[in-house]
Amino acid sequence: MNRSRVAVIISGRGSNLLALLQAAADPAFPAGIDLVISNRPQAAGLMFAKQFNIPAQVIDHTNFPDKASFEATLHDALITAHIEWICLAGFMRILSAPFIEKWRGRILNIHPSLLPAFPGLHVHEQALAAGVKFSGCTVHYVEAGVDTGKIIDQAVVPVLPHDTAESLAARVLEAEHMLYPAALAQIISLANAHQV
Ligand code: GRF
Repeated sequence: MNRSRVAVIISGRGSNLLALLQAAADPAFPAGIDLVISNRPQAAGLMFAKQFNIPAQVIDHTNFPDKASFEATLHDALITAHIEWICLAGFMRILSAPFIEKWRGRILNIHPSLLPAFPGLHVHEQALAAGVKFSGCTVHYVEAGVDTGKIIDQAVVPVLPHDTAESLAARVLEAEHMLYPAALAQIISLANAHQV
């Protein structure tokens, strides 16, 4: 079967992008990463696209007069590359409802907490302040609303007594790198099974 075509959209470091690229390097993985888009020209993660020989595009939101024109360009780039699924991976813009509607059920995001706990920013600080004993990460469908949308999968890590936001973030990030490829494979395999 042809592998599903996935775009990963980033804004920065790109460690989740790297995890997805590594997973997709296995021919048995049900998807290929066929396009990387960054809204920031300086995003460090762009180098991973280069390393893996994957087309990368910078679509800098600051070059557009408004969100609608930025998203129109994003949409065109995805359509031109025949993309079927979008993985947001550290993409720091909020997509509008009309864009999400066009890609309904086809946009995934990873968030470094056990949603619905601790949405938004400063997630690990929020977790430490709340005194939770476990945290983790969530892969979910993107819907209008920040870090809402049906949960696809989660992974749990312990919060240790002397954790700082940095040490907790590092532990969660390791779990993210396993969870995101697994969740993507799971939903694509499911979608393909329903098609036959
Ligand atoms: C990750 O913690 C992810 O959960 C959050 O942003 C961070 C991105 O990290 N949405 P990276 O760019 O994938 O390294």
